[in-house]
Amino acid sequence: MTIIDSAAAAAQASSTPSAPAFSGGYQPKPLKFDPAKLEGLSERLIRSHWENNYQGSVKTLNAVRSRLTAALADTEAPPVIYGGLKREELHRTGSVVLHEIYFDGLGGNGQAAGSVRDAITAAFGSYATWEAEFRRTAMSLAGGSGWAILNYNLHTRSLNNNWAWDHMHGAAAGVPVLVLDMYEHSFHMDYGTQAAKYVDAWFRNLDWETIDQRYRAITATRV
Ligand SMILES: [Fe+2]
Repeated sequence: MTIIDSAAAAAQASSTPSAPAFSGGYQPKPLKFDPAKLEGLSERLIRSHWENNYQGSVKTLNAVRSRLTAALADTEAPPVIYGGLKREELHRTGSVVLHEIYFDGLGGNGQAAGSVRDAITAAFGSYATWEAEFRRTAMSLAGGSGWAILNYNLHTRSLNNNWAWDHMHGAAAGVPVLVLDMYEHSFHMDYGTQAAKYVDAWFRNLDWETIDQRYRAITATRV
């Protein structure tokens, strides 16, 4: 691109700040359950997690998008500055998406059912084997941070438990069916360093009806 083309593109960018790719108007998604009624996960913990960590990422994502719009219109902005904003956009997008799937997965009775349970059993040999591998994956992250994710992979058309050490490094073509937040902020208030007890509580509160709806929507996707 020539300098003139670049300037024209920047002028065009500054005139379209409200285009969806640059929109900073993302709104937090409310909890779909009463946080006072979960079993083994306190209302204080859930509210803190939703308000401070999830909502904080929504606000930061909107702020980063706003700064990206301004930086795109600034032809003098060093590429490294733009790269830093793009990294933070990716980081915050991952945080927002994964936290929404995490909270959507809670509020149920923990009894796995539906086509997703059948699919898990077929993929892992038994539901118990899937749960054991998911727990092992989660506990491998218990000393620091990350996500344990049951993904449906749109490329391989298979279910897999995947390890993610941050909000950005998910499996290629993997679409999360359910996710478990293993960052300390998701359990330390209730369980201290006893992450395994937090994982037990998380399983007891899973909303398999919602998870099954999500699974069926994902598997209906064709790419
Ligand atoms: Fe979190």
